Amino acid sequence: MYDIFSLPEIKFPDGFIFGSATAGHQVEGDNVHSNWWALEQAGKVGSLSGKACNHYELYREDVELIKQLGHKAYRMSIEWSRIEPAEGKFNAEAMDHYIDLLERLKQAGLIIYLTLHHFTHPQWFEELGGFQKLSNMPYFERFINYAVPRIAKYVDYWNVINEFNLGGSAERIEFKLNMLRYHARGYHLIKQYSKAPVSSAHAFIHYFPYRRHDELDNIMTGFQDWRDNEFFFHAIRTGEIAFPFKDAEYVPEIKGTADFWAVNYYTRHMVDGRLSGLEGKRFQHKQLKMIPINFYLEEMFPEGLISNIERLKDKPVHITENGCSCDDDRFRIVYIALHLSALHEAIARGVDVRAFLYWSLMDNYEWGSFVPRFGLVKVDFKTFERVVKPSAYFYRDIIAENGLNQAIVRRHIKDLPTLMK
Ligand code: BGC
Repeated sequence: MYDIFSLPEIKFPDGFIFGSATAGHQVEGDNVHSNWWALEQAGKVGSLSGKACNHYELYREDVELIKQLGHKAYRMSIEWSRIEPAEGKFNAEAMDHYIDLLERLKQAGLIIYLTLHHFTHPQWFEELGGFQKLSNMPYFERFINYAVPRIAKYVDYWNVINEFNLGGSAERIEFKLNMLRYHARGYHLIKQYSKAPVSSAHAFIHYFPYRRHDELDNIMTGFQDWRDNEFFFHAIRTGEIAFPFKDAEYVPEIKGTADFWAVNYYTRHMVDGRLSGLEGKRFQHKQLKMIPINFYLEEMFPEGLISNIERLKDKPVHITENGCSCDDDRFRIVYIALHLSALHEAIARGVDVRAFLYWSLMDNYEWGSFVPRFGLVKVDFKTFERVVKPSAYFYRDIIAENGLNQAIVRRHIKDLPTLMK
């Protein structure tokens, strides 16, 4: 295990933004008009989200909680399928719900990051072909033109779309490349209503060769990195959609459509050029079993945060997600301590990092399962009771000090967690 008892003291730049993040479908509950709800009902994704954290009803208490935990910022998403449950029929009550939530967050003094699309959209939009079709752009535009002017005054940072950059199937590639254009259109539309910075959150996977000195593994690591990471930054920087096995295309509307880089980072993935799916095994000695199922987050790799965002020196970087799913909350404390230390190192190496938003404020619905628990706050999924975990107090002290030191570490953790067998 990592020795966080010898981490040196760190201080973040003045005005550094600490907070937490959630997403509508994962916390609200009863998101019945969404495409994900339809997939759940069709038995295609594991557990049903049901009432999730019942946040749609308990949002007032949840705002109080965020305040008590000392967070300075909160990232959330609004659900298009609640706002426009049937094509062209807007639900003013759902919009008012979000306005009330945003109003309360503002009154609590929070900086608000708002995502317009976090994996879910209306089932009617899905049935029309969703983002697989560029001809569906007018639906997305209409949603933005309805929602954004109503909430613009509350939002400090926009995310048009969450994490569309991953995946390599033919269908997925078409989707990702379309999404660059949906993102760009969203960017330009938001600008008509808001002066706040706009981006789309990027899922930053650290790709690492399974065999460091094998040429094929290295080539495929570079390939994976371009396929999932660099094509996105490149398109936004230059306007060029350059993707393996495709003719490159220059799309001027895409150029410059990020005012900051919004980065979601969790861990690294190994690349094995001798496997068709390229998914290499992890180093066993680093593998952590923190929850009783197989899950992608089985390794803490904070150094990946440094070396990845180091290529984003051209704009301010906001870490819009970073977090740990574990049953023993001490793993979360270790994870936060290591990742904040890494982030601090990235700042020292010249990256203009402005924010860190922990994923997630509370345990929630992890896209087909309730087993991975990322929350600073424990949620009982039957009673919806919220119980603050020790890591939330640890994080609160970090926020209050704008940094991390041994006094804080030792106040909240006595010994290191051991691994489940
Ligand atoms: C997503 C979240 C998800 C988290 C943890 C991110 O990729 O934006 O929706 O819950 O990772 O897996």
